[in-house]
Amino acid sequence: MPRGSGDTPREPGTALITGASAGIGAALAREFAAHGHDVVLVARREERLGRLAGALESEGVTATPLVMDLDSATAAMDLHEEVTGRGLDIDILVNNVGVGTYGPFADSDLDAERTQLRLNVVLPVELTRLFLEEFDGGGKVLNLGSMAGTAPGPGLSTYYASKAYVNSFTEAVAEELRGEVDVTLVCPGPVDTEFAARAGMGESSVGSVSSNTPENVAETAYAGLMAGETVVIPSRAMRAVDLLRRVAPRAVVRRVTRWVNSGR
Ligand SMILES: NC(=O)c1ccc[n+]([C@@H]2O[C@H](COP(=O)([O-])OP(=O)(O)OC[C@H]3O[C@@H](n4cnc5c(N)ncnc54)[C@H](OP(=O)(O)O)[C@@H]3O)[C@@H](O)[C@H]2O)c1
Repeated sequence: MPRGSGDTPREPGTALITGASAGIGAALAREFAAHGHDVVLVARREERLGRLAGALESEGVTATPLVMDLDSATAAMDLHEEVTGRGLDIDILVNNVGVGTYGPFADSDLDAERTQLRLNVVLPVELTRLFLEEFDGGGKVLNLGSMAGTAPGPGLSTYYASKAYVNSFTEAVAEELRGEVDVTLVCPGPVDTEFAARAGMGESSVGSVSSNTPENVAETAYAGLMAGETVVIPSRAMRAVDLLRRVAPRAVVRRVTRWVNSGR
């Protein structure tokens, strides 16, 4: 990776955001644009991406929509090629896209499990590796982990495990790259987005006690990234949950999480 060999990156720099047509990704796009960043927006729904890009452009930034299905073995390479082929210089990579699979693991659909692994784990690892090559003497990475990654999650077992991977990977790479590339992990608890419906979580009580807005998550994540923080937990309630999980016996954490994830 070329480091420190080029000019200082342009401020405030262009952010590439995966999963930008809805939820936290769309809120992050608005947050980055509000701070003067150009944005590259990736998702499948063309109309939504186009509308968001148009709204952001009217605020004076350049917003480039890229319509792509990221659920493929070559998605990271295809996206990297598309971005570099268009001559877009990326200063900030936001690995936001992610999906969940809900229900007992023994009844799970293997195709949905593969999609979840590709989007939540393989894609951010590959994109981070590929875009680190582009950062010339700077650059930033913001990864969407989750509070789910801090515990075993019966009922959402593979989703929690995928986020444990993202949380661990991101913190470790942040340490490796300290002083060269700012890498920030954001760990929201439940957020009011399309996520639960997409995961088929209608029966779950997740989020019924405490949930956050995508706008609050985006604002807190952006501030943490710019401040060079390694881990951002964007609500007081979830910071308390984090502390409790650290001191509670693991068996208790497993059982409480099973109860929270199960039916209302
Ligand atoms: N919501 C929560 O409670 C919560 C909590 C903690 C962490 N997170 C994490 O935050 C991130 C964003 O979640 P969210 O809640 O904002 O989810 P969301 O509202 O469901 O949005 C997901 C985004 O990903 C895109 N997407 C899904 N599949 C795709 C594919 N195959 N190819 C390209 N784009 C795809 C969707 O757009 P298209 O359908 O247009 O492609 C959409 O823009 C995820 O990593 C999630 O794990 C969420």
